[in-house]
Amino acid sequence: MAFASFRDWVRHLDQAGELKRIQQPLATELEITEWADREMKSPGGGRALLIENPTVQGRPSPFPVAINTLGSWKRMALSLGAESVEAAAAELGALLQAKPPTGFREAVRLLGQAIELRHARPKSVREAPCQEVVHRFDPAPSRSEPWPAAPDILRGERTPEFPPTLRDLPILKCWPSDGGRFLTLPCVVTQDPDTGERNVGMYRIQVYDGQTVGVHWQLQKVAARHGRRYYETGRRMPVAIFLGGDPMFPFAATAPLPDGMDEFLLAGYLRRKSVELVKCLTVDLEVPADADFVLEGYVDPQEPLRQEGPFGDHTGYYTLPEPYPVMHLTALTHRRDAVYPATIVGVPPMEDFYIGSASVKLFLPVFRMNFPEIADIALPAEGVFHNLVIVSIRKTYPMQAYKIMHGLWGMGQMMFTKYIIVVDDDTDVHNTSEVLFRLCANTDPQRDSLFSRGPADVLDHATSEVAIGSKLGMDATRKLPGEGFRRPWPPLIRMDPAVKERVGKMFNL
Ligand SMILES: Cc1cc2nc3c(=O)[nH]c(=O)nc-3n(C[C@H](O)[C@H](O)[C@H](O)COP(=O)(O)O)c2cc1C
Repeated sequence: MAFASFRDWVRHLDQAGELKRIQQPLATELEITEWADREMKSPGGGRALLIENPTVQGRPSPFPVAINTLGSWKRMALSLGAESVEAAAAELGALLQAKPPTGFREAVRLLGQAIELRHARPKSVREAPCQEVVHRFDPAPSRSEPWPAAPDILRGERTPEFPPTLRDLPILKCWPSDGGRFLTLPCVVTQDPDTGERNVGMYRIQVYDGQTVGVHWQLQKVAARHGRRYYETGRRMPVAIFLGGDPMFPFAATAPLPDGMDEFLLAGYLRRKSVELVKCLTVDLEVPADADFVLEGYVDPQEPLRQEGPFGDHTGYYTLPEPYPVMHLTALTHRRDAVYPATIVGVPPMEDFYIGSASVKLFLPVFRMNFPEIADIALPAEGVFHNLVIVSIRKTYPMQAYKIMHGLWGMGQMMFTKYIIVVDDDTDVHNTSEVLFRLCANTDPQRDSLFSRGPADVLDHATSEVAIGSKLGMDATRKLPGEGFRRPWPPLIRMDPAVKERVGKMFNL
């Protein structure tokens, strides 16, 4: 199911009873976070919020804010136009099983074919709602002029050239010690300068002033790889950031797709409709025509990096300032009826748990292509995305759990996983209490643990060095004689099914 705009998506949520509309003014400085945090932490992820009258420094913003729109299983399913996330995953799995691929690359190629079957290739269009209102910016000051200090917009400081539109966008200051305002659901479009391949990634954006923002693409992400090539050649790097449109856009931007696979293909497949792309007005990149807001601009490799942050992050802690590239805006365009999409991250559970877990469910069939023994995978909310992965397997040979650990650590963004717990396929990986029971019962810690080292999430404040760290794998599967285990493995206690049924009926249990 395709949505024509973010407003269209929000309306759909309203009709499904998944939206709370808030009419009283609510400040973009912390107050929206406070309400959204309570909502995200209520059972099942609460409801989405439409803040109809947000204020920016006490003034009403012309745009409403929608937040937590993907923060429950039901809303994730609605965004996919499916009965459930599992149903969408099963459909994708069936497509792949029709012609079993021989490996992960082959699985990705087949995914591409599935997308073709749905005629979901992006199309170019000339007219676009996202360009209904256009603000062009003067060229940024030359490097010989001193760079203006970032104004503290929360104290009312403004640079003289602060454009009214960016100032009026209801961009959140999420947490008390955040270094400023941040776009929290931005889809960032960049291009590989050598191959022309496009990437869309979700990387938060810090607003420094009306014309400059910080782009937080982390070391191991695709836009950072693109950026390195521009830094090597010294050429300006075009960047386009869009917000809103179909909710499959931000979903696809966060999905851990292999480098080189176009997120707009995935979005087109999932929404069953091609993504219509329009050329940006001031940079040579394309964005979805039905996006709500677009920021166009460039990163100048000659310019020094600038401190980004602090920012109250997914980890539940503030990420301290680190140097990141600066983007200069050349244009800001938007729909007349734009709705500003936002999320917050922080102490889990948050909306991103549902986004990340839906990705895992959808890509489980693709994981299984490489690891057919995998029964299920869970990334509990407490592990904040990839810190903790619980995987169940159908174990048939000795040391299979270790094969899975090494395999997962070697797969894309699973490289960030600190802890992997492997259990047998009779364990419900989504029931953390059951997993802890199996872990405690089925392991001899020294024998069943594996320490390794590798790249770490740059957000991880616990590693001694940024971006490198250790990993721990725990094998909580039943042990086989070939694993040096010489005693009989005891059976798990289970009641006789007939007795269960009889007693249940007798006492109406
Ligand atoms: C709400 C949200 C915010 C995110 N912010 C960032 C960020 O600031 N920087 C970053 O590198 N990744 C961030 N991520 C994770 C990336 O979107 C994710 O790793 C994505 O797969 C990256 O795309 P890429 O593989 O094309 O680089 C965020 C994810 C979510 C759900």
